[in-house]
Amino acid sequence: MSINIGEPKELMNLSIELLNKLLSNEFVLLAKSWSFHWTVTGPSFGSYHSFLEKIYKETFENIDNIAERIRALDGVPLESLRSYIEHATIKDYNAGETLPEAKTMFALLLDDHESIIRDIREDLKILEAQKVMDEGTINLLQDMIYRMGKTAWMLRAHIS
Ligand SMILES: [Fe+2]
Repeated sequence: MSINIGEPKELMNLSIELLNKLLSNEFVLLAKSWSFHWTVTGPSFGSYHSFLEKIYKETFENIDNIAERIRALDGVPLESLRSYIEHATIKDYNAGETLPEAKTMFALLLDDHESIIRDIREDLKILEAQKVMDEGTINLLQDMIYRMGKTAWMLRAHIS
């Protein structure tokens, strides 16, 4: 059945495009934060391990929300790891590198969080410039800024 939620098709397509880029970034972040959860070491291992678990679980939840918003707009979420790497704007973690120290892991994840937040803010400007607003997507993006901003603060606190 065709979709009729009061949004022009072009605007839905724009939202889907922005959401797929965000989905790709979140998948790269998921792989990185989950792998750091497994490999982190140090005297505070227990708290680092739990904190990194909190981050990958939050990222997992973001991924599900983004993909389901794309479906609600009658779009198709990108479906392969290759396509996520192609569309992501944050750097994939290079497994060939020596494992970073815990503080470096937090710094890398902080960079990713801040970069994704800046991207989302740009996406919001693009969406808000449209005459008809995609409130559902805007709400999701604003919520992500709030939650990722809180995690970025916690990452920053682990480094300083
Ligand atoms: Fe685990």
